[in-house]
Amino acid sequence: MNEKVVKSSSSNRTVTLVDNATGREFSFPVISGSVGPDVIDLRNLYQDTGFFTFDPGYTSTGSCESAITFIDGNEGTLLYRGYPIQDLAEHSDFMEACYLLLYGDLPNAEQKRRFEHDITYHTMLHEQMHEFYDGFRRDSHPMAVMVGVVGALSAFYHDSTDITNPRHRMIASYRMIAKMPTIAAWAYKYAIGQPFIYPRNELKYSENFLHMLFANPCEPYVINPVLARALDRILILHADHEQNASTSTVRLAGSSGANPFACIAAGIASLWGPAHGGANEAVLRMLEEIGDKSRVPEYVKRAKDPDDPFRLMGFGHRVYKNYDPRARIMRQTCYEVLDELGVRDEPLLELAMSLENIALDDEFFVKKKLYPNVDFYSGIIFKAMGIPLSMFTVLFAVARTVGWVAQWNEMIEDPTQKIGRPRQLYTGATRREYKLLAQRA
Ligand code: CMC
Repeated sequence: MNEKVVKSSSSNRTVTLVDNATGREFSFPVISGSVGPDVIDLRNLYQDTGFFTFDPGYTSTGSCESAITFIDGNEGTLLYRGYPIQDLAEHSDFMEACYLLLYGDLPNAEQKRRFEHDITYHTMLHEQMHEFYDGFRRDSHPMAVMVGVVGALSAFYHDSTDITNPRHRMIASYRMIAKMPTIAAWAYKYAIGQPFIYPRNELKYSENFLHMLFANPCEPYVINPVLARALDRILILHADHEQNASTSTVRLAGSSGANPFACIAAGIASLWGPAHGGANEAVLRMLEEIGDKSRVPEYVKRAKDPDDPFRLMGFGHRVYKNYDPRARIMRQTCYEVLDELGVRDEPLLELAMSLENIALDDEFFVKKKLYPNVDFYSGIIFKAMGIPLSMFTVLFAVARTVGWVAQWNEMIEDPTQKIGRPRQLYTGATRREYKLLAQRA
């Protein structure tokens, strides 16, 4: 790893906590990053005061130092290693974004050629993994297959599981970035009962992924360059997003010293939920359920009802309190893909736009700063490309793998890294006397 890390710095500033029961005062140092809000260093809080913090959902907790991705949620800014997502989506391809996230800088031409070659070299799966798929029911959700097969990589690639060895770590990282499209495409082929299509190493990453998803042995499959470019851009947009639920899961799993394949499988499991990566699938289900523009107000009303668990999927974000910059690019990509495919008046797109307009004007959404997120338009693009609903979150997992491995590597290399071990506010029974079975009423 050769990134230029801007180290955090302690200032003379401190924050004082006063215990009004005892009048005792405790001071804690303030630390600054390169950009973004300062943090209060509470590492000695328990030792100095006897208190823990209580922050369910970690809404105010920084769990690590990181130099990979920066989000300014109020501005609606997303930077990978300092580069705005808009520039990367417009000018780079996914392989460049991967190199950037892993190594800290954009590659020069030779570095890019070499990186693409090395990733390509790892696209095949151990042939025995073929049989692994047969253990799943045909109607398994492809995310279930992803969790299982990615976790199983640790049983096949023993030569890259020594996490103390930087070379092992890098080989494992390359393997996962390279093999993820193969694993994902095979999960799809298995579900529809078609033969697995092997990677073709002369193809670019996204072209190869489309090829493995849609080719079959009986006829040639012609890759549409507009769709390949759109998929590549979607992969860039999803590649990393700082300490979200799945990335934090990868870090937490990895903090115990678990092997990287197991950690990424844990990340995939976390991504699956509808509040996270599963939202792209949930958005499309929601749009299909709404069915018609005339029913949009009814669903907006339900989303605002505190007694109704319904939420507008693809809306809201823990960090963005402004339009998610990825959603804008996604909307543009959506137009390009529909145009290329000659899809005019796509009812789901019209419905999505109507929902967006109504919600963006509504006082509830304005006040709570709920804007469309990355998942709002991606499902419509995937559907137009012929990708089935159950594969939507799988595509997110393929894209996010590079973010997960970059964050995992950063964590392993961090000398201050410790096993992740939060505490709790215990509200259960206090100590009580054990009764033998015969004495229990
Ligand atoms: N529809 C209606 N109300 C919402 C929505 C929504 N989509 N999102 C948040 N709210 C309300 C929520 O009810 C709460 O209201 P109140 O303060 O009155 O209780 C307020 O806004 C804050 O919501 P929160 O749940 O406390 O916020 P959070 O930061 O914990 O959750 C979120 C963020 C993304 C889980 C949530 O906005 C949500 O469930 N959105 C829908 C699912 C979704 O689109 N997820 C994809 C996120 S982007 C991609 C990714 O990260 O994978």
